[in-house]
Amino acid sequence: MTLRIVVGGDNAGFNYKEALRKDLEADERVEVVADVGVQDPQDQTYYPNVAVAAAEKVARGEADRALLICGTGLGVAIAANKVKGIRAVTAHDSYSVQRSVLSNNAQVLCMGERVVGLELARVLVKEWLGVQFDPQSSSAAKVDAICAYESD
Ligand code: RB5
Repeated sequence: MTLRIVVGGDNAGFNYKEALRKDLEADERVEVVADVGVQDPQDQTYYPNVAVAAAEKVARGEADRALLICGTGLGVAIAANKVKGIRAVTAHDSYSVQRSVLSNNAQVLCMGERVVGLELARVLVKEWLGVQFDPQSSSAAKVDAICAYESD
């Protein structure tokens, strides 16, 4: 199974977004990468606008997952989580990245360019591609409980 990934970030996440997009494009587990910007490090588009654009692609079923980068990885996660059906997390360690999928069925991984080293971020994204949520697992009911708090 291959993944359709959408990447995005603000100017503070531009360098990592570019590097990680190239890694994703070269990974055989990735079917296609869509880039919602920013495309220029001088672009001052606010991080919530980029994050929501990416999250909406996932929510509409146009992508399986999103990778979002800002300075901290925090603002993009907060914004992406405003989109109904989206579970976005900020994670900079291997265990949390894995559990974000296995425990939380999070479709959106957020990282901070000012927080984590680029080489670690690259390794974490590779690991992220290798984990899949199991809807038969004991975590499924807990994810359903999250979803139950979403209003129509
Ligand atoms: C820069 O605007 C910085 O605040 C942003 O990239 C992000 O870290 C916010 O959470």
